[in-house]
Amino acid sequence: MAVLQVKQLGVQFSTQDGTVYAVNHLDFAVDKGQTLGVVGESGSGKSQSVLAVMGLLARNGRATGEALYQGRNLLGLSEAELNRIRGNRIAMIFQDPMTSLNPYLTVERQMTEVLQFHKGQDRKTARQHALRLLDAVKIPEAARRIGMYPHEFSGGMRQRVMIATALLCEPELLIADEPSTALDVTVQAQIMALLRELQRDFGTAIVLITHDLGVVAGLCDQVLVMYAGRAMENGPVQQMFERPSHPYTSGLLHALPRLDREREHLVVIPGTPPNMAQPPSGCPYHPRCPLAEEVCRTTVPLPRGDAAWPGVLRTCHMEPAVVLAHHRENLHG
Ligand SMILES: Nc1ncnc2c1ncn2[C@@H]1O[C@H](COP(=O)(O)OP(=O)(O)O)[C@@H](O)[C@H]1O
Ligand SMILES: [Mg+2]
Repeated sequence: MAVLQVKQLGVQFSTQDGTVYAVNHLDFAVDKGQTLGVVGESGSGKSQSVLAVMGLLARNGRATGEALYQGRNLLGLSEAELNRIRGNRIAMIFQDPMTSLNPYLTVERQMTEVLQFHKGQDRKTARQHALRLLDAVKIPEAARRIGMYPHEFSGGMRQRVMIATALLCEPELLIADEPSTALDVTVQAQIMALLRELQRDFGTAIVLITHDLGVVAGLCDQVLVMYAGRAMENGPVQQMFERPSHPYTSGLLHALPRLDREREHLVVIPGTPPNMAQPPSGCPYHPRCPLAEEVCRTTVPLPRGDAAWPGVLRTCHMEPAVVLAHHRENLHG
């Protein structure tokens, strides 16, 4: 069963240059205990999609569509109703822990406040509870460190504190927006292993935004590939890696560094993503797509399934078999 089901999500920003259509007709869902990876180049609308769901868009932003949680549309809730769900049933972690940690409060204070607010625990119970979580995210000497301020922790440890805080109320859904991007590779791997463990122990559903396809392969069940504010391809992870059915997905996979290739053979998708204030006509990917035909320039494709690609929803005019053949040719060529 879906913990969160997003239907026809749209995010628009009003700016001096006109309306920016940052997210368009986006559908996705995440099931209990499952991880949905969200990938796509910078500016493709990944962050704004989840911020919209959490009711955290900038003042000039507006969300349309539905984000169903327990049958209620989060997009229609009041600030007070959202505050009962955020940090409690649905929690979010960010690339920069200082966007959710308060620099002026000790870790103990911010963690116990969450529990007092959402769970009505007293100070002492809340402290014990917070310590258990700090242990769970493997912060050494938690009993001493809980009295410290966020800036007294290293980057990786601060990230763990944020994760522990997010998990205090055992949320059903954790939304992680590039949680380890700013950290060095070893710490990144530790944070990802930690998320996997926590998911196993708590059964949390996770939406994980990442630009790291290795993380997607290792951690995710489903993947949503975004481009220019739209879903290009959405389906089971293994399908995507073995049989990508969208030229953009194929491009992303070719851009993966591979051990069996020389560095100079590393292919990055030529060109740049579109300016969302003036998106191209037709399929937004057509100016960069090696397979684009006339119809791609003139007509916006609609998401659709294909019997031969079970569980995959794709937004492309090309037949999936044609895309796959092209992908394989290039992979081995
Ligand atoms: N407050 C804002 N006003 C206008 N445009 C915005 C605002 N916030 C984000 N955008 C635009 O929304 C688009 C999607 O951004 P974002 O979701 O942050 O991308 P990413 O996939 O890198 O997370 C970008 O084109 C960005 O410039
Ligand atoms: Mg982002």
